[in-house]
Amino acid sequence: FDVTWDAAAAEKGGWPSFMSKEVSEEPEAIANTLRGRINNGAVEIPELDGLDELFEGISRVVVIACGTAAYAGQVGKYAIEQWARIPVDVELAHEFRYRDPVIGPDTLVVSISQSGETMDTLMAVKFARERGARTLSICNTQGATIPRESDAVVYTHAGPEVAVASTKAFVAQIAALYLLALHVARVRGTMSAQAIAEQVGELEEVPAKIQRILDTESPRIAELAHWMADTRSVLFLGRHVGFPIALEGALKLKEISYIHAEGFAAGELKHGPIALIEPGQPVFVIVPSPRASALLHSKVVSTIEEIRARGARVIAIAEEGDAAVLPTADEVLRIPLAAPLIEPLLAVVPLHLFAMGLSTAKGLDVDQPRNLAKSVTVE
Ligand code: AGP
Repeated sequence: FDVTWDAAAAEKGGWPSFMSKEVSEEPEAIANTLRGRINNGAVEIPELDGLDELFEGISRVVVIACGTAAYAGQVGKYAIEQWARIPVDVELAHEFRYRDPVIGPDTLVVSISQSGETMDTLMAVKFARERGARTLSICNTQGATIPRESDAVVYTHAGPEVAVASTKAFVAQIAALYLLALHVARVRGTMSAQAIAEQVGELEEVPAKIQRILDTESPRIAELAHWMADTRSVLFLGRHVGFPIALEGALKLKEISYIHAEGFAAGELKHGPIALIEPGQPVFVIVPSPRASALLHSKVVSTIEEIRARGARVIAIAEEGDAAVLPTADEVLRIPLAAPLIEPLLAVVPLHLFAMGLSTAKGLDVDQPRNLAKSVTVE
């Protein structure tokens, strides 16, 4: 028999694509990003030792990033505001620099970049420094340009990410932002050691919970993607911290399957987008936990009923045991129970799997989609 040793296949560890390998590494990417920064329920980020002054006296945080990294920033906003009680604005780097933003020494600018070489983000960091802001980089590439241009860096340890579509780096960015939020909460005294330990405990359970989703939901998602290979547009709805995940799900789908996809805040539907709903329109809905907010949960379930009444085909992502979604959605993908701010780390996994499945079903190059580069080093 012919044994052709495929170096690329070896690099993919036997996986059909780098993206499938990297999605499978999402649990490990988070575990490695947490490792060495948690000590008996306390957050201790070595890179920030002796840098408490970076956080003292700041009145606001501005997160700057592009694409998927910006969506990680939007998720991180909820944690920084809720835990560290500092207002956070999330800005697209390429827009930020051309406004005349009100920033200065009281502003902490947090850049998020997997490659650490994205020119839009790098130029925005330089601009922020010129305006006197303090800068901190969340980056997945040791020694990259953006961390070198920043006052401090918190590295994600997702490992090299080869596929153009960012997956494991995205979840690692959120984990790093949560560690940063808890670190700042301790420095500013806005959370007790007990409250911090509770969130740390939740974070430590994430890798196993993601693994469970990968193990239980992958076959069904691949099947769904196969049946939906001819779809021409997919909508994604999320609420609260699920809204950035809806945006991320739409970006993943469009960038590797070339299908029009759009993410919306679920509450925005009645202000226009519901006009897009017609019979057969596939809509993913990220359903917030009823344990977190019965009100938000009921509003999202009502949204599902409204769009199904207009013929939408609803695929709900809901926590295990949430029975309210069953009579309303056509399909329910399950994620394990978790604290409200942990849910985004779980809800995004089925969306990464779906985008990959649909691209594969269409016979496209999952790892190197047309027109795109892994790192956009031009403005
Ligand atoms: C993500 O799937 C995209 N490839 C793209 O949006 C990417 O996140 C963006 O270009 C930012 O890249 P960076 O994280 O390396 O700065």
